Amino acid sequence: MTKTNKNKRSRERVAGYFITFEGGEGAGKSTQITRLKTYLESLGQSVVVTREPGGSPGAEKIRAMLLSGGAKDLGPRGEAMLFAAARADHVDTTIKPALERGDWVLCDRYADSTWVYQGEAGVDRDYLKLLETAAVAGVYPDLTILIDVPVEIGLARVAERSRTDDSGGPDRFEDEDLKVHQCRRDLFLELAKNESFRFAVIDGSKDLDEVTAAIRDAVVKTFSGDLPQDKTSTGIPAEAY
Ligand code: TYD
Repeated sequence: MTKTNKNKRSRERVAGYFITFEGGEGAGKSTQITRLKTYLESLGQSVVVTREPGGSPGAEKIRAMLLSGGAKDLGPRGEAMLFAAARADHVDTTIKPALERGDWVLCDRYADSTWVYQGEAGVDRDYLKLLETAAVAGVYPDLTILIDVPVEIGLARVAERSRTDDSGGPDRFEDEDLKVHQCRRDLFLELAKNESFRFAVIDGSKDLDEVTAAIRDAVVKTFSGDLPQDKTSTGIPAEAY
């Protein structure tokens, strides 16, 4: 099922560029966002990195409630509404002002995550569409990078991460069985197919540097007319790695 009825959906044109990153658990989004930021900055661009749920003081409060499981009693519909409330504040106070300044906004998860995670949890599609329309207020991504990894690989990375850092074990949405994670992966891929005009699907099981290069290629392809020429021979500044 598509979220839009149109083949192409463009946001109101403002000066900046909006790229969202999506994927299941352990896809490696944050590492790749940091690398893309470094690359864009090496080209003299101004970059804002942000995340969902969260990305603004108000939305970070809602994040804490959602990820601790504190809102679980509301059920998936109520949780979806909280994700949307956080998103609305994030859009108003962080994303829109940055785009209006002409910055690049790199956002770790956005409305597609609600479509997939809360959709998988059984929330009605029409309800999710209404929430999305209200929350994003016309601010749609120019490009969505879906980092796709087989669920076994993603979950093994998450397990390794919780073993080696002090993140305190899985959050409310990581702690699900394999079938749920597989269903989310399928939903992301279905969405990317249906809205291919804005998606780049990247194979996240590849070597870290190959993933970085594939993401950079997708960005250059999408924004070629807006990016200054890269002066390095390979096209990839060494500091981007
Ligand atoms: P986070 O710690 O940011 O993890 P990740 O590295 O996986 O992005 O946790 C965010 C969690 O919230 C993640 O499991 C996905 C979930 N989520 C939703 O269920 N709905 C949403 O709309 C968003 C933005 C996130």
